[in-house]
Amino acid sequence: MKASPINNVVLVGFMGSGKSRVGGALAGLAQCDHVDLDERIEARAGITISQIFGDFGEETFRSWETDALAEWLGAPKGILSTGGGIIETEINRQALRRHYPVVWLDPSFDQLRDRLGRAPRKQRPLVESLGWSALRALRDRRRPLYASCADFRMQETRPSAHAMAVAIRRILQEAQGS
Ligand code: S3P
Repeated sequence: MKASPINNVVLVGFMGSGKSRVGGALAGLAQCDHVDLDERIEARAGITISQIFGDFGEETFRSWETDALAEWLGAPKGILSTGGGIIETEINRQALRRHYPVVWLDPSFDQLRDRLGRAPRKQRPLVESLGWSALRALRDRRRPLYASCADFRMQETRPSAHAMAVAIRRILQEAQGS
């Protein structure tokens, strides 16, 4: 088991899996900071993720994402919610395996589709450009990549982000033996 399972935790998972909301709830329970990597990238760039994809392309976004991940892992504080494509890059996967406990939120595709189909809180260029079957194929291709980095998988969903956070915290505490 990696060190500091409660206060330095990374959440990964496909778009719509609830990483940001659950990360916020987990940080509330642990009374620690919560960083959303996409928000950090947007704040640095001064433009939205959609604009980054549109103006600079996905490859540039991926390199900024790698930089932001490395920076957080170098001086972690609290809970990190990553973007769904963080596992696309081998260097990111290696970094995720090496450091803090990684929790993979893995709801069914129907649940993801329900969430992504609702009025989105955030613009997602890939959801806007791909149809549901391409999104399903993307998620299927990525699942082994999430699996290769994750210490824990949360397949079941709970009715609220808070309930998910409580369940994750319990799993981490059990793994820590406390
Ligand atoms: C992406 C997921 C998004 C964001 C970007 C690309 C992806 O984050 O990083 O639009 O490749 O899956 P969320 O998973 O928070 O939507």
